[in-house]
Amino acid sequence: MKFIRTTNFPFLVSVLYAFLGGIWILCSDKFTYYLTNDPTQLIFLQTYKGWIYVSVTAFLLYLLLNKGWKSLQFEIQSRREAEEELEQSLAHTQVGLRSTVKVIAETVEARDPYTAGHQRRVSELARSIATEMNLPHNQIDGIRIAANIHDLGKISIPVEILSKPSQLSDVEFSLIKEHPLSGYNILKDIAFPWPIARVILEHHERMDGSGYPNGLKGDELLLESRILAVADVVEAMASYRPYRAALGIDLALEEIVNNRGVLYDSIVVDACLRLFNEKGYELQE
Ligand SMILES: [Fe+2]
Repeated sequence: MKFIRTTNFPFLVSVLYAFLGGIWILCSDKFTYYLTNDPTQLIFLQTYKGWIYVSVTAFLLYLLLNKGWKSLQFEIQSRREAEEELEQSLAHTQVGLRSTVKVIAETVEARDPYTAGHQRRVSELARSIATEMNLPHNQIDGIRIAANIHDLGKISIPVEILSKPSQLSDVEFSLIKEHPLSGYNILKDIAFPWPIARVILEHHERMDGSGYPNGLKGDELLLESRILAVADVVEAMASYRPYRAALGIDLALEEIVNNRGVLYDSIVVDACLRLFNEKGYELQE
């Protein structure tokens, strides 16, 4: 069996078949004439010869096909098992990553409940915009997760500044503007299956390059970042902030309509407007 396994079996069978076939052709007529000269019996012998030929051919064909079929089944089974193992390990990784995100979100919440509520509402709106845009399920998942922790970098900002009940000074605002980069630096080495760190880094960038921290423009920004930017500004304007009352959803939508294609991605703005104006979407409490 080892010899068969280690040799090119189809080649071996073909050579053997050709060799035996040659001997058969050379010897069989002489052999049949040696047995009898009776024409009727010769016809019978020729028929038997045909049957033997067909049987041997069928048997060799069976050996070849059987070996190929078994190899194929073995290959399919091995691949199936490898795929199952991969899926299981991916599922475990995803559970681990989701737990990581949950812990991060809870850490933010414990320190700054206001930001936590904001992140939850932005996450729900960003997910709904992405769904309205018919994005793939996996991409929507990435957007939802990034949005859920997008202001994580604010943990490096003193709570007194985050909850200051009056307008921020220039210095305070420059500290606030560091939060996308702080969040990026915290997350950049975690191997998420989505570009979470980059989306967080880009969520205050604007389509015309007027955003921060890098002044990126248009296609330089990930689609996920453009969706998060719209969801973020709509929620922020519609809701209460420590330094001002809620401006309301009408003013928030007016902001994205007025700056559609300038600060915000037109397709994202249109999807967001459809949600609020046609589908009765409301921000979560
Ligand atoms: Fe932010």
